[in-house]
Amino acid sequence: MDDGIKQNYEGKLRISILGGGYVGLVTAVCLAELGHRVDLVDIDKERCELINAGEPPIYESGLRELLSIHACRSLHAYASYDVIKGSDMTFICVGTPQGADGSSDLSMVSSACTSLGDSLKDKEEYHAVVVKSTVPPGTTEQLVIPSVLEHSGKEISEIGFAVNPEFLREGMAIYDFMNPDRIVIGSLEERAGDLVESVYRKINAPIVRTALTSAEMIKYASNAFLATKISYANEIGNICKRLGIDVYDVMKGIGLDHRIGPAFLNAGAGFGGSCLPKDLSALIALAEDLGEDPVLLRSVMSINERQPLRMVDLLSRRVGDLRGKKIAILGLSFKDNTDDVRESRSIDVINELILRGALVAAYDPRGSTSMKRILPDISYHPTAAEALRNADACLVMTEWPEFGLLDDEFNLMRSRVIIEGRRVLSCKDREGICW
Ligand code: UDX
Repeated sequence: MDDGIKQNYEGKLRISILGGGYVGLVTAVCLAELGHRVDLVDIDKERCELINAGEPPIYESGLRELLSIHACRSLHAYASYDVIKGSDMTFICVGTPQGADGSSDLSMVSSACTSLGDSLKDKEEYHAVVVKSTVPPGTTEQLVIPSVLEHSGKEISEIGFAVNPEFLREGMAIYDFMNPDRIVIGSLEERAGDLVESVYRKINAPIVRTALTSAEMIKYASNAFLATKISYANEIGNICKRLGIDVYDVMKGIGLDHRIGPAFLNAGAGFGGSCLPKDLSALIALAEDLGEDPVLLRSVMSINERQPLRMVDLLSRRVGDLRGKKIAILGLSFKDNTDDVRESRSIDVINELILRGALVAAYDPRGSTSMKRILPDISYHPTAAEALRNADACLVMTEWPEFGLLDDEFNLMRSRVIIEGRRVLSCKDREGICW
């Protein structure tokens, strides 16, 4: 192994990270916590200044604490790629948002590879490029490798390539990074894979070494399976609702089977967030591009798209015509403990309520600011009680713990019609979407 890296190999690695968003910033602070020197590169100068000042630009449990320890010590943020060639390896952590046609938008990955290649032109020592961004299987081989080699003018022997997907849940990202169920490393040749393994040597978890494209597919297949479990629970829940039985009892009964497992069987208004819907959609698009007909994956998506609307149908059955009715929505973020509203099931519910002429009063402990950018024309309230005041009905959309404590506050409503899309309320007169 190159002298430069051998010295570091035993101890600290100098790691650069492209992208200071949700994945990049969490990766940066955790790698610093693992003892590495981290240079984070983000084109947003303001974001870099915030990070260097120890101010997290996103909310994530534990992030502020780690940033206060490592900012401007073992973690530095730069708005320039110049710092790259001083590192041993670079993690690509830029976003891959969903494109208009449902496939993954790789423009930021492509741009990062171009700049990364340019920044490696004059570097003599071996350098490893590690794709952590969630990319369609085949992207590293077909886009990342050719682009970095072209723009750096290097041979494939001079630059190592690996894929190291993340399995981080929003709100639990730092915990998940430090306590992974497994570490997946895809690599073109052993050397790059070994280097990525050494990054995580302080973490005790099973390591899966595989090929580049297989590692990319593990990420997509994991998220698609999690989505499938949720849509399965929702489909069974919809049947249980008609039978008058509690899907949570049913799911408890099946989840104890070690072949099934209890996680991700909570029926409700469906899955949201910046990952499950996007990755499922990208996998469907990829399958179709390859000439496959992904009927199961499309059904998972279709169930999820219909599920929130069942909240509104149930509401209509309870209160009749929604025109002019005041409906309180508790919970705007896509799940509790985050301010992220991307693909939140509340967006579909609120749009349908507006379509049916209802007046919406919304509250969320953290998500209101984000939701105002998407839905500016509904009313937002500082507390659940204020949103509930004089409402004809209430829909609870996320399992924020504070919602579980509500009971007297529902008496502020014109009528106590309470429907929950997540199992969170303790009051006896609530009705569930699937229970
Ligand atoms: C997910 C994956 O869990 C994570 O491994 C991946 O890296 C990124 O995508 P995240 O989107 O942050 O993480 O949230 P998650 O906790 O998985 O929940 C996703 C959605 O599914 C939320 O809307 C949640 O409310 C919903 N959900 C989750 C259910 O409806 N039922 C469940 O049983 C679990």
